[in-house]
Amino acid sequence: MADTNETKKSITQVRIPTRTLRPGNRYSYNVYDEYGNRILDAHTPITQTLINHLLSNNIEALYYDPASATRKKDNEGDVDTGKPVISENTREEVVDHTRSLFDEIRANLNISPAIAISKDHVYSTRSMIDSLLGEINENEDGVFSAMTKLKTLDDFYYVHSTNVSVLGALLGTKLELQQDVRTAMGVGGLFHDIGMTSVSKDILHKLKKTQEEINKINLHPHVGYKLVEKHQYMHELEKRIILLHHEKADGRGFPYGFEMDHYREQIPKEVRLMSLIDTYVSLVFTMPDSKPMNSQGALRSMLNLVYAPYKKVFRFLPEDFRDFIRGLGFTVNNGKFFLSRGDVVRLNTGEVALVEELSKLSPLNPRVRIVKNSQLQNLKRNISVDMLKDYGSYISNVFERKKSSETE
Ligand SMILES: [Fe+2]
Ligand SMILES: [Fe+2]
Repeated sequence: MADTNETKKSITQVRIPTRTLRPGNRYSYNVYDEYGNRILDAHTPITQTLINHLLSNNIEALYYDPASATRKKDNEGDVDTGKPVISENTREEVVDHTRSLFDEIRANLNISPAIAISKDHVYSTRSMIDSLLGEINENEDGVFSAMTKLKTLDDFYYVHSTNVSVLGALLGTKLELQQDVRTAMGVGGLFHDIGMTSVSKDILHKLKKTQEEINKINLHPHVGYKLVEKHQYMHELEKRIILLHHEKADGRGFPYGFEMDHYREQIPKEVRLMSLIDTYVSLVFTMPDSKPMNSQGALRSMLNLVYAPYKKVFRFLPEDFRDFIRGLGFTVNNGKFFLSRGDVVRLNTGEVALVEELSKLSPLNPRVRIVKNSQLQNLKRNISVDMLKDYGSYISNVFERKKSSETE
């Protein structure tokens, strides 16, 4: 966005201490937090819920720029962000590291699975992730576009693993997890598909795979886990990312097919978050035989896989998707909300609503106007609801434009 830097430089001109905010107050300007994230649109009344959120997140002040009143409004709901989270050089370094790591492990497997992954493989990866984490400024939003260009087919899994690794480390940072957990998410992301090294490149590179070949590929979580199971120098979380990243909340995942309660209780939250990242990366970066989605389309289609009581098929828990989108939603979508004002959505209750106003603080809890009940019958009178006031509620589906006109 052309005016991003201009916005970041100028928004610190007028400070509004949080303790002076009152419900019903309005400002003639867009209001931002100290990092330049838009918190409130111009002329929108402040709510007690917003004040409570600011206080509970220790946000001491908001800011506005008096010169911005005449500035042309951006797309509704956009949050202005700045530079890339990591440099291209760093990303190339991670790809190069991953390429040599995977190739060495593949070669070692021909000798003995017991020595395929060495202590040095793990330690060198960990120190690379630590230096990558040192490059991330946790106080800046920044943007990150998954690497999507493939030089050769051989690069597919290296680039895929690099994207998952970098986003894992980044999400750990955004969610302010402990340092060793951030590192483990980065290392686990880089190793998560390491079991693929037991599959021949001929099969991996084939565009139309047979069911037998797919079955062989689907063994990779278990095969990968067997390679690291006994290694004391690997973090337990890294091992679990390798083993469990293809489990799904509705029990249709593999290798175990845990059903929802089991999924929630037996799989660490960080592993479930890595599974979200793996899915996101798989949607925006594909083998040449399928069409990649853009980041917004990927995030919206993932929302449609979030559990709600009216769904039979789902993949993610709402609390996990909420954290994923809060941590990475803006970063991977060039600083923009993945939903828009006017979107037709379905709530966890099954009701259908129109999005009226989005909130950076809780992207799945906008202000909405409910237009249909949970049986999809039109309401005689539409009801406006601020979902921020009910944290138990959430958006669980978004209808794409073509579909939305069918439902209206
Ligand atoms: Fe995988
Ligand atoms: Fe993967």
